[in-house]
Amino acid sequence: MERLIKKIRHLRGEITPPADKSISHRSVMFASLAKGQSRIKNFLWAQDPINSLNAMKSLGVEIEITDSKEIIINGKGLQSLKEPDNVIDCGNSGTTIRLLSGIVAGQPFLTVLTGDDSLRQRPMRRVIEPLRLMGSNIFGRLNDRFPPLVVKGNCLKGIKYIMPVASAQVKSAILLAGIYANSETEVIEPHKSRDHTERMLKNMGAEIQLNAITKKASKEHNNEAYSIKIKPPQDELSSIDMTIPNDFSSAAFFIAGACLVPGSEILIKNVGLNPTRTGFLDVLMQMGANIEILNVKQQGGEPVGDIVCKTSNKLKAVTVQGSFIPKLIDEFPVLCVMATQTDGKTIIKDAKELRVKESDRIKAMVTELKKMGTQIEEFEDGVVINGPCKLRGAEVYSYKDHRIAMALTIAGLIAERPTLIKEAQCVDISFPQFYELLEMLQK
Ligand code: S3P
Repeated sequence: MERLIKKIRHLRGEITPPADKSISHRSVMFASLAKGQSRIKNFLWAQDPINSLNAMKSLGVEIEITDSKEIIINGKGLQSLKEPDNVIDCGNSGTTIRLLSGIVAGQPFLTVLTGDDSLRQRPMRRVIEPLRLMGSNIFGRLNDRFPPLVVKGNCLKGIKYIMPVASAQVKSAILLAGIYANSETEVIEPHKSRDHTERMLKNMGAEIQLNAITKKASKEHNNEAYSIKIKPPQDELSSIDMTIPNDFSSAAFFIAGACLVPGSEILIKNVGLNPTRTGFLDVLMQMGANIEILNVKQQGGEPVGDIVCKTSNKLKAVTVQGSFIPKLIDEFPVLCVMATQTDGKTIIKDAKELRVKESDRIKAMVTELKKMGTQIEEFEDGVVINGPCKLRGAEVYSYKDHRIAMALTIAGLIAERPTLIKEAQCVDISFPQFYELLEMLQK
Protein backbone atom coordinates (compact mmCIF):
# COMPACT_ATOMS: atom_id res chain seq x y z
CA MET A 1 0.00 0.00 0.00
CA GLU A 2 1.16 3.53 -0.73
CA ARG A 3 0.24 6.71 1.17
CA LEU A 4 0.15 10.20 -0.20
CA ILE A 5 1.18 12.77 2.42
CA LYS A 6 0.55 16.49 1.96
CA LYS A 7 1.82 19.54 3.76
CA ILE A 8 -0.60 20.35 6.58
CA ARG A 9 -1.72 23.47 8.46
CA HIS A 10 -1.39 22.17 12.01
CA LEU A 11 -1.55 19.23 14.41
CA ARG A 12 -3.96 19.97 17.24
CA GLY A 13 -5.74 17.95 19.89
CA GLU A 14 -5.26 15.05 22.23
CA ILE A 15 -4.13 11.49 21.44
CA THR A 16 -3.52 8.28 23.29
CA PRO A 17 -0.74 6.41 21.50
CA PRO A 18 -0.77 2.61 21.34
CA ALA A 19 0.58 0.45 24.16
CA ASP A 20 4.30 -0.10 24.58
CA LYS A 21 5.63 -2.77 22.21
CA SER A 22 8.64 -3.84 24.31
CA ILE A 23 6.53 -4.20 27.46
CA SER A 24 3.73 -6.01 25.59
CA HIS A 25 6.15 -8.70 24.38
CA ARG A 26 7.58 -9.14 27.85
CA SER A 27 4.21 -9.21 29.60
CA VAL A 28 2.97 -12.29 27.71
CA MET A 29 6.30 -14.08 27.75
CA PHE A 30 7.02 -13.58 31.45
CA ALA A 31 3.44 -14.20 32.62
CA SER A 32 3.65 -17.51 30.74
CA LEU A 33 6.54 -18.57 32.99
CA ALA A 34 4.78 -17.54 36.22
CA LYS A 35 2.64 -19.72 38.43
CA GLY A 36 -0.90 -18.39 38.71
CA GLN A 37 -3.29 -16.23 36.75
CA SER A 38 -1.92 -13.03 35.19
CA ARG A 39 -4.09 -10.24 33.74
CA ILE A 40 -2.66 -7.88 31.16
CA LYS A 41 -4.56 -4.74 30.21
CA ASN A 42 -3.75 -2.39 27.31
CA PHE A 43 -1.72 -4.96 25.35
CA LEU A 44 -0.47 -3.74 21.97
CA TRP A 45 -2.62 -5.51 19.38
CA ALA A 46 -0.08 -5.08 16.59
CA GLN A 47 1.71 -7.73 14.56
CA ASP A 48 4.99 -7.88 16.52
CA PRO A 49 3.61 -8.57 20.02
CA ILE A 50 0.87 -10.79 18.56
CA ASN A 51 3.75 -12.98 17.32
CA SER A 52 5.02 -13.28 20.91
CA LEU A 53 1.54 -14.14 22.14
CA ASN A 54 1.14 -16.86 19.48
CA ALA A 55 4.62 -18.19 20.24
CA MET A 56 3.70 -18.70 23.90
CA LYS A 57 0.51 -20.48 22.83
CA SER A 58 2.64 -22.80 20.64
CA LEU A 59 4.68 -23.58 23.76
CA GLY A 60 1.50 -24.87 25.39
CA VAL A 61 0.56 -21.83 27.50
CA GLU A 62 -3.16 -21.35 28.22
CA ILE A 63 -4.06 -17.83 27.09
CA GLU A 64 -7.56 -16.30 27.00
CA ILE A 65 -8.59 -12.99 25.50
CA THR A 66 -11.64 -11.30 27.02
CA ASP A 67 -14.25 -9.27 25.09
CA SER A 68 -12.56 -6.10 26.30
CA LYS A 69 -9.24 -7.38 24.86
CA GLU A 70 -7.63 -8.09 28.22
CA ILE A 71 -5.28 -11.05 28.23
CA ILE A 72 -5.59 -13.72 30.89
CA ILE A 73 -2.70 -16.13 31.18
CA ASN A 74 -3.05 -19.23 33.31
CA GLY A 75 0.62 -19.74 34.10
CA LYS A 76 1.63 -23.21 35.24
CA GLY A 77 5.16 -22.35 36.30
CA LEU A 78 8.73 -22.41 35.07
CA GLN A 79 8.79 -26.09 34.05
CA SER A 80 5.41 -26.15 32.30
CA LEU A 81 6.30 -25.29 28.70
CA LYS A 82 5.69 -27.98 26.06
CA GLU A 83 7.52 -28.82 22.85
CA PRO A 84 5.85 -26.91 19.98
CA ASP A 85 4.53 -29.17 17.23
CA ASN A 86 5.66 -26.79 14.49
CA VAL A 87 8.26 -24.17 13.67
CA ILE A 88 7.53 -20.88 15.53
CA ASP A 89 7.16 -17.92 13.18
CA CYS A 90 8.35 -14.70 14.85
CA GLY A 91 7.38 -12.62 11.79
CA ASN A 92 9.27 -9.29 11.70
CA SER A 93 10.00 -9.26 15.42
CA GLY A 94 13.58 -9.24 16.69
CA THR A 95 12.31 -9.01 20.27
CA THR A 96 10.22 -12.18 19.86
CA ILE A 97 13.01 -14.33 18.43
CA ARG A 98 15.78 -13.12 20.74
CA LEU A 99 13.84 -13.22 24.02
CA LEU A 100 12.29 -16.53 23.09
CA SER A 101 15.69 -18.05 22.33
CA GLY A 102 16.62 -17.28 25.96
CA ILE A 103 13.43 -18.91 27.25
CA VAL A 104 13.76 -22.10 25.20
CA ALA A 105 17.55 -22.41 25.73
CA GLY A 106 16.95 -24.34 28.95
CA GLN A 107 13.82 -26.32 27.99
CA PRO A 108 14.09 -30.09 27.64
CA PHE A 109 12.80 -30.11 24.04
CA LEU A 110 13.43 -28.94 20.49
CA THR A 111 12.31 -25.52 19.24
CA VAL A 112 12.79 -24.01 15.79
CA LEU A 113 12.39 -20.24 15.46
CA THR A 114 12.10 -18.37 12.18
CA GLY A 115 10.73 -15.13 10.74
CA ASP A 116 10.06 -13.04 7.66
CA ASP A 117 12.59 -11.99 4.98
CA SER A 118 13.85 -9.10 7.14
CA LEU A 119 14.18 -11.10 10.38
CA ARG A 120 16.03 -13.89 8.55
CA GLN A 121 18.75 -11.33 7.70
CA ARG A 122 19.22 -10.10 11.28
CA PRO A 123 22.25 -11.10 13.39
CA MET A 124 21.67 -13.93 15.85
CA ARG A 125 25.22 -14.85 16.86
CA ARG A 126 24.84 -12.23 19.58
CA VAL A 127 22.34 -14.51 21.38
CA ILE A 128 23.72 -17.85 20.19
CA GLU A 129 27.17 -17.19 21.66
CA PRO A 130 26.16 -16.49 25.29
CA LEU A 131 23.39 -19.10 25.31
CA ARG A 132 25.85 -21.71 24.08
CA LEU A 133 28.31 -20.71 26.81
CA MET A 134 25.49 -21.40 29.26
CA GLY A 135 25.18 -24.92 27.84
CA SER A 136 22.34 -24.65 25.34
CA ASN A 137 22.49 -26.49 22.00
CA ILE A 138 21.57 -23.61 19.74
CA PHE A 139 22.38 -23.16 16.06
CA GLY A 140 21.59 -20.67 13.34
CA ARG A 141 21.70 -20.56 9.55
CA LEU A 142 24.98 -19.67 7.81
CA ASN A 143 27.32 -20.60 10.59
CA ASP A 144 25.13 -19.17 13.35
CA ARG A 145 24.63 -15.80 11.72
CA PHE A 146 20.91 -15.80 10.92
CA PRO A 147 17.53 -17.43 11.65
CA PRO A 148 16.07 -20.00 11.50
CA LEU A 149 17.40 -20.96 14.92
CA VAL A 150 17.30 -24.54 16.13
CA VAL A 151 17.41 -24.94 19.89
CA LYS A 152 17.67 -28.22 21.76
CA GLY A 153 17.45 -27.12 25.35
CA ASN A 154 19.84 -28.39 27.97
CA CYS A 155 20.75 -27.95 31.64
CA LEU A 156 22.20 -24.46 31.84
CA LYS A 157 24.94 -23.02 33.99
CA GLY A 158 25.27 -19.41 35.11
CA ILE A 159 27.89 -17.29 33.33
CA LYS A 160 29.41 -13.84 33.48
CA TYR A 161 29.01 -12.31 30.06
CA ILE A 162 30.40 -9.01 28.81
CA MET A 163 28.21 -7.82 25.97
CA PRO A 164 30.07 -6.21 23.05
CA VAL A 165 27.11 -3.87 22.30
CA ALA A 166 24.33 -2.52 24.49
CA SER A 167 21.22 -4.46 23.49
CA ALA A 168 18.12 -5.00 25.61
CA GLN A 169 17.15 -7.98 23.47
CA VAL A 170 20.44 -9.80 24.04
CA LYS A 171 20.54 -8.83 27.73
CA SER A 172 16.98 -10.12 28.18
CA ALA A 173 17.71 -13.42 26.40
CA ILE A 174 20.62 -14.08 28.78
CA LEU A 175 18.64 -13.07 31.88
CA LEU A 176 15.73 -15.32 30.86
CA ALA A 177 18.10 -18.24 30.34
CA GLY A 178 19.61 -17.28 33.72
CA ILE A 179 16.27 -18.11 35.37
CA TYR A 180 16.81 -21.72 34.23
CA ALA A 181 20.52 -21.90 35.13
CA ASN A 182 22.03 -23.73 38.10
CA SER A 183 23.87 -20.67 39.44
CA GLU A 184 23.94 -16.87 39.22
CA THR A 185 24.26 -15.20 35.79
CA GLU A 186 25.83 -11.78 35.31
CA VAL A 187 25.51 -9.63 32.20
CA ILE A 188 27.61 -6.52 31.69
CA GLU A 189 26.52 -3.98 29.11
CA PRO A 190 28.77 -1.20 27.82
CA HIS A 191 25.89 1.30 28.19
CA LYS A 192 22.55 0.97 29.88
CA SER A 193 19.83 -0.24 27.49
CA ARG A 194 16.08 -0.36 28.19
CA ASP A 195 15.45 -2.12 31.50
CA HIS A 196 11.84 -3.36 31.18
CA THR A 197 12.96 -6.97 31.66
CA GLU A 198 14.74 -6.21 34.93
CA ARG A 199 11.79 -4.19 36.25
CA MET A 200 9.17 -6.79 35.36
CA LEU A 201 11.12 -9.83 36.56
CA LYS A 202 11.87 -8.05 39.84
CA ASN A 203 8.15 -7.34 40.29
CA MET A 204 7.52 -11.03 39.76
CA GLY A 205 9.89 -11.90 42.60
CA ALA A 206 13.11 -12.67 40.70
CA GLU A 207 16.32 -11.82 42.52
CA ILE A 208 17.99 -9.20 40.34
CA GLN A 209 20.86 -6.98 41.32
CA LEU A 210 21.86 -3.89 39.33
CA ASN A 211 25.15 -2.06 39.61
CA ALA A 212 26.82 0.74 37.71
CA ILE A 213 30.44 -0.20 37.09
CA THR A 214 33.05 2.48 37.70
CA LYS A 215 36.13 2.89 35.53
CA LYS A 216 38.26 1.27 38.21
CA ALA A 217 36.14 -1.87 38.34
CA SER A 218 36.59 -2.73 34.67
CA LYS A 219 39.31 -2.02 32.16
CA GLU A 220 37.16 -2.83 29.16
CA HIS A 221 34.41 -0.33 29.89
CA ASN A 222 34.03 3.30 30.72
CA ASN A 223 32.11 4.36 33.80
CA GLU A 224 28.72 4.00 32.11
CA ALA A 225 28.95 0.19 32.00
CA TYR A 226 26.23 -1.68 33.84
CA SER A 227 26.10 -5.04 35.56
CA ILE A 228 22.90 -7.06 35.97
CA LYS A 229 22.92 -10.25 38.04
CA ILE A 230 20.10 -12.75 38.25
CA LYS A 231 19.84 -15.71 40.63
CA PRO A 232 17.78 -18.73 39.56
CA PRO A 233 14.56 -18.42 41.60
CA GLN A 234 14.22 -20.88 44.49
CA ASP A 235 10.49 -20.88 43.97
CA GLU A 236 8.15 -19.96 41.09
CA LEU A 237 7.78 -16.45 39.63
CA SER A 238 4.59 -14.76 40.79
CA SER A 239 1.85 -13.81 38.34
CA ILE A 240 1.27 -10.20 37.26
CA ASP A 241 -1.68 -7.87 37.00
CA MET A 242 -0.66 -4.89 34.93
CA THR A 243 -1.80 -2.11 32.63
CA ILE A 244 0.83 -1.53 29.98
CA PRO A 245 1.88 2.12 29.54
CA ASN A 246 1.62 3.71 26.09
CA ASP A 247 4.64 3.58 23.83
CA PHE A 248 7.09 6.48 23.94
CA SER A 249 8.57 5.33 20.63
CA SER A 250 5.17 5.65 18.93
CA ALA A 251 4.52 8.99 20.66
CA ALA A 252 7.88 10.23 19.31
CA PHE A 253 6.48 10.63 15.77
CA PHE A 254 3.75 12.94 17.05
CA ILE A 255 6.17 14.84 19.30
CA ALA A 256 8.32 15.53 16.24
CA GLY A 257 5.27 16.39 14.12
CA ALA A 258 3.96 18.92 16.65
CA CYS A 259 7.41 20.53 17.02
CA LEU A 260 7.83 20.90 13.25
CA VAL A 261 4.38 21.76 11.86
CA PRO A 262 3.52 25.46 12.38
CA GLY A 263 0.50 26.29 14.58
CA SER A 264 0.57 22.95 16.42
CA GLU A 265 -0.23 22.01 19.99
CA ILE A 266 -0.93 18.43 21.07
CA LEU A 267 -1.38 16.51 24.30
CA ILE A 268 -0.14 12.91 24.29
CA LYS A 269 -1.65 10.90 27.13
CA ASN A 270 -0.20 8.32 29.47
CA VAL A 271 3.13 7.75 27.78
CA GLY A 272 5.85 5.51 29.23
CA LEU A 273 8.69 7.72 30.47
CA ASN A 274 11.23 5.10 31.50
CA PRO A 275 14.53 7.04 31.42
CA THR A 276 16.21 4.25 29.43
CA ARG A 277 13.74 5.05 26.61
CA THR A 278 13.41 8.84 26.58
CA GLY A 279 16.77 9.97 25.18
CA PHE A 280 14.82 11.57 22.30
CA LEU A 281 13.08 13.91 24.76
CA ASP A 282 16.43 14.90 26.30
CA VAL A 283 17.83 15.66 22.84
CA LEU A 284 14.76 17.66 21.83
CA MET A 285 15.06 19.73 25.01
CA GLN A 286 18.71 20.44 24.12
CA MET A 287 17.54 21.52 20.67
CA GLY A 288 15.20 24.00 22.37
CA ALA A 289 11.88 22.26 21.62
CA ASN A 290 8.68 23.41 23.27
CA ILE A 291 7.79 20.35 25.35
CA GLU A 292 6.28 19.92 28.79
CA ILE A 293 5.78 16.76 30.87
CA LEU A 294 2.76 16.58 33.18
CA ASN A 295 1.09 14.18 35.63
CA VAL A 296 4.00 11.79 36.12
CA LYS A 297 3.02 8.65 38.05
CA GLN A 298 3.91 4.93 38.26
CA GLN A 299 2.04 2.32 36.24
CA GLY A 300 2.96 -1.36 36.02
CA GLY A 301 6.38 -0.67 37.56
CA GLU A 302 7.16 2.03 34.97
CA PRO A 303 6.95 5.85 35.09
CA VAL A 304 4.24 7.34 32.83
CA GLY A 305 3.06 10.87 32.15
CA ASP A 306 1.41 13.23 29.65
CA ILE A 307 3.45 15.16 27.08
CA VAL A 308 2.45 18.58 25.74
CA CYS A 309 4.24 19.64 22.54
CA LYS A 310 3.97 22.87 20.63
CA THR A 311 5.50 24.21 17.45
CA SER A 312 9.14 24.93 18.19
CA ASN A 313 11.04 27.62 16.34
CA LYS A 314 14.78 28.23 16.20
CA LEU A 315 15.80 24.66 16.97
CA LYS A 316 19.54 24.22 17.50
CA ALA A 317 21.67 21.38 16.12
CA VAL A 318 23.18 18.94 18.64
CA THR A 319 25.63 16.03 18.78
CA VAL A 320 24.20 12.69 19.87
CA GLN A 321 26.60 9.86 20.76
CA GLY A 322 27.79 7.27 23.29
CA SER A 323 25.45 6.30 26.10
CA PHE A 324 22.65 8.40 24.57
CA ILE A 325 22.33 6.07 21.59
CA PRO A 326 20.65 3.08 23.30
CA LYS A 327 18.19 5.51 24.94
CA LEU A 328 16.92 6.69 21.55
CA ILE A 329 17.82 3.76 19.32
CA ASP A 330 14.31 3.45 17.85
CA GLU A 331 13.91 7.22 17.46
CA PHE A 332 16.84 7.63 15.03
CA PRO A 333 14.66 7.89 11.88
CA VAL A 334 12.45 10.62 13.33
CA LEU A 335 15.44 12.34 14.94
CA CYS A 336 16.92 12.67 11.44
CA VAL A 337 13.70 14.38 10.35
CA MET A 338 13.94 16.80 13.32
CA ALA A 339 17.56 17.51 12.39
CA THR A 340 16.54 18.65 8.89
CA GLN A 341 14.86 21.64 10.56
CA THR A 342 17.52 22.61 13.12
CA ASP A 343 20.05 25.34 12.65
CA GLY A 344 23.55 23.90 12.11
CA LYS A 345 25.15 20.47 11.92
CA THR A 346 23.44 17.65 13.79
CA ILE A 347 25.89 14.80 14.35
CA ILE A 348 24.69 11.31 15.27
CA LYS A 349 27.46 8.75 15.87
CA ASP A 350 28.26 5.49 17.72
CA ALA A 351 25.04 4.13 16.22
CA LYS A 352 26.27 1.28 13.99
CA GLU A 353 23.56 -0.95 15.50
CA LEU A 354 21.06 0.91 13.33
CA ARG A 355 22.43 -0.97 10.33
CA VAL A 356 20.95 -4.23 11.65
CA LYS A 357 17.44 -3.16 12.65
CA GLU A 358 14.28 -4.02 10.66
CA SER A 359 16.17 -2.32 7.80
CA ASP A 360 19.57 -0.61 7.56
CA ARG A 361 18.14 2.53 9.09
CA ILE A 362 21.19 4.71 8.42
CA LYS A 363 21.17 3.91 4.71
CA ALA A 364 17.38 4.12 4.50
CA MET A 365 17.15 7.60 6.05
CA VAL A 366 20.14 8.95 4.10
CA THR A 367 18.76 7.69 0.77
CA GLU A 368 15.18 8.82 1.30
CA LEU A 369 15.84 12.19 2.99
CA LYS A 370 18.26 13.04 0.15
CA LYS A 371 15.37 12.54 -2.29
CA MET A 372 13.46 15.15 -0.23
CA GLY A 373 16.27 17.71 -0.44
CA THR A 374 18.14 17.11 2.84
CA GLN A 375 21.86 17.75 3.13
CA ILE A 376 22.79 14.51 4.83
CA GLU A 377 26.05 12.63 4.89
CA GLU A 378 26.36 8.92 5.69
CA PHE A 379 28.97 7.42 8.01
CA GLU A 380 29.44 3.80 9.05
CA ASP A 381 28.11 4.58 12.54
CA GLY A 382 25.76 7.51 11.93
CA VAL A 383 24.97 10.66 9.95
CA VAL A 384 25.67 14.37 9.77
CA ILE A 385 22.74 16.58 8.77
CA ASN A 386 23.23 20.18 7.80
CA GLY A 387 20.10 22.19 8.60
CA PRO A 388 17.77 23.83 8.17
CA CYS A 389 16.71 22.34 4.81
CA LYS A 390 13.60 23.12 2.77
CA LEU A 391 12.07 19.68 2.28
CA ARG A 392 10.30 18.88 -0.98
CA GLY A 393 7.88 16.02 -1.56
CA ALA A 394 9.22 12.96 -3.37
CA GLU A 395 8.43 9.31 -3.96
CA VAL A 396 10.10 7.56 -1.02
CA TYR A 397 10.41 3.94 0.11
CA SER A 398 9.79 2.52 3.59
CA TYR A 399 12.03 -0.54 3.16
CA LYS A 400 9.01 -2.29 4.77
CA ASP A 401 10.29 -0.85 8.07
CA HIS A 402 7.53 0.63 10.25
CA ARG A 403 9.68 3.37 11.80
CA ILE A 404 11.09 4.48 8.43
CA ALA A 405 7.53 4.76 7.02
CA MET A 406 6.35 6.88 10.00
CA ALA A 407 9.44 9.11 10.05
CA LEU A 408 9.12 9.84 6.30
CA THR A 409 5.44 10.60 6.84
CA ILE A 410 6.38 13.28 9.40
CA ALA A 411 8.87 14.73 6.89
CA GLY A 412 6.04 14.77 4.31
CA LEU A 413 3.87 16.93 6.63
CA ILE A 414 6.29 19.86 6.27
CA ALA A 415 7.47 19.31 2.67
CA GLU A 416 6.51 21.46 -0.31
CA ARG A 417 4.48 19.28 -2.72
CA PRO A 418 3.13 15.81 -1.83
CA THR A 419 5.24 12.87 -0.66
CA LEU A 420 4.36 9.35 -1.77
CA ILE A 421 5.36 6.69 0.78
CA LYS A 422 5.73 3.28 -0.86
CA GLU A 423 4.93 0.21 1.28
CA ALA A 424 3.38 2.23 4.10
CA GLN A 425 1.31 -0.71 5.38
CA CYS A 426 4.26 -1.82 7.53
CA VAL A 427 3.19 0.75 10.20
CA ASP A 428 0.94 -2.12 11.40
CA ILE A 429 4.01 -3.75 12.97
CA SER A 430 3.84 -1.33 15.91
CA PHE A 431 1.17 1.32 15.25
CA PRO A 432 -1.89 0.23 13.23
CA GLN A 433 -3.80 3.48 13.96
CA PHE A 434 -0.94 5.79 13.00
CA TYR A 435 -2.55 7.36 9.90
CA GLU A 436 -5.97 7.56 11.56
CA LEU A 437 -4.60 9.52 14.55
CA LEU A 438 -2.56 11.75 12.26
CA GLU A 439 -5.69 12.67 10.30
CA MET A 440 -7.63 13.35 13.50
CA LEU A 441 -5.03 15.91 14.66
CA GLN A 442 -5.25 17.82 11.37
CA LYS A 443 -8.93 18.81 11.87
C1 S3P B 1 13.93 -3.79 22.00
C2 S3P B 1 15.26 -3.47 22.05
C3 S3P B 1 15.95 -2.69 21.02
C4 S3P B 1 14.96 -1.96 20.13
C5 S3P B 1 13.81 -2.84 19.70
C6 S3P B 1 13.05 -3.35 20.92
C7 S3P B 1 13.37 -4.60 23.10
O1 S3P B 1 16.72 -3.56 20.22
O2 S3P B 1 15.62 -1.44 19.00
O3 S3P B 1 12.92 -2.11 18.88
O4 S3P B 1 12.13 -4.69 23.21
O5 S3P B 1 14.14 -5.15 23.88
P1 S3P B 1 18.22 -4.00 20.67
O6 S3P B 1 18.10 -4.64 21.97
O7 S3P B 1 18.68 -5.00 19.63
O8 S3P B 1 19.01 -2.75 20.64
